[in-house]
Amino acid sequence: MKEATATGVKWQEAIASALLKTKRNLEQHPTDFPHISNGKHYEWGSNEDWIEGFWTGIVWLCYEYSGDESLRQHAHAQVESFDRRLSDKLALDHHDIGFLYGLSAMAGWIVEGNEQHKALALRAADHLLGRWRESAGLIQAWGPEDDPENGGRIIIDCLMNLPLLYWAAQITGDERYARIAAAQARLSRKFLVRGDDSSYHTFYFDGSGNALRGGTHQGFRDGSTWTRGQAWGIYGFALSYRFTGDPEFLETSKRLAAYFIERIPESGIVYWDFDAPAAGSVNPDSSASAIAACGMLELLEHLAPDDLLRPRLEQAVKRTMNALAELSLGMAQEAEGLLDHGSYHVRGDYGPDGYMIWGDYYYLEALMRLEKGIPGYWYERERN
Ligand code: GLY
Repeated sequence: MKEATATGVKWQEAIASALLKTKRNLEQHPTDFPHISNGKHYEWGSNEDWIEGFWTGIVWLCYEYSGDESLRQHAHAQVESFDRRLSDKLALDHHDIGFLYGLSAMAGWIVEGNEQHKALALRAADHLLGRWRESAGLIQAWGPEDDPENGGRIIIDCLMNLPLLYWAAQITGDERYARIAAAQARLSRKFLVRGDDSSYHTFYFDGSGNALRGGTHQGFRDGSTWTRGQAWGIYGFALSYRFTGDPEFLETSKRLAAYFIERIPESGIVYWDFDAPAAGSVNPDSSASAIAACGMLELLEHLAPDDLLRPRLEQAVKRTMNALAELSLGMAQEAEGLLDHGSYHVRGDYGPDGYMIWGDYYYLEALMRLEKGIPGYWYERERN
């Protein structure tokens, strides 16, 4: 995909700008974590939401790219914060353990073979495994086991938490992690992906695993396609394919990607929901585009050279990353975020338009994949 540079967008310039902002943000906020933006600035807070791993992932990416020792030290300090958080079980009654511990502790193991970080990531995988509900056959997304609303609920985002489990199976040799991850991916494929290749954000089951209904949390309506959910699916199924080799996961990622590509607007950056009414102004979600770009880059690694989807994927990555890099490089120098015009929960009027730390992470991961072949922290790499 290096030929994408021929379009004039300079990935190196985009990475240099991201590196500068990351170092400046660390100087100004050495211990806090950025969440979503409030006007021109991030809201900085402690490590107790689902999103803090993205900041640590950005710091690891910047360290890998630059070799700057101060970045490594910041990454280590942040991983210590994740360690305390797991010991204290602080705000961990949800499935986003892969986002939190994959991009912090597992990343530390991947980047430098740190045994303490490996042990922490394995403890986190055990915590995630604790959300498996045997009688229903699912990983519960949110809340405690007996939660009346969320007890039998899965969401498409969970696909991105599964790599932590697949990885734990590889490291420990305990197949239970991988069996549960693959079962969750199969359930997601069956119920969250619809016949026309669009997706539900969320699906409900009863305590015995009987399917009740599809729905949404952050999308426009229950039957609509929330673009970030579709993007989680593209990337998540491609990763499940990487770990399992199950061709159904590859095919599902391709279907979701083709649906997404068809709906990329002229600007190159998707709106927050593919079914949101076009009347008036429709908020974009740059974070959905960044996640989808990473997912498509992952997918491209698994496709045969003559796969008919390949040229469309390559073109879509190019368009998306050109648009995102132009957006990023056009932002004010003092802006703390890398990407403007992400959205968190438009319908709920919470973070409808601004920086989203996960958007920044995936944008930088996509740049690193394109420029340096650094694929983020979802799976082991060859060790020298
Ligand atoms: N995983 C929550 C979100 O994408 O907003």
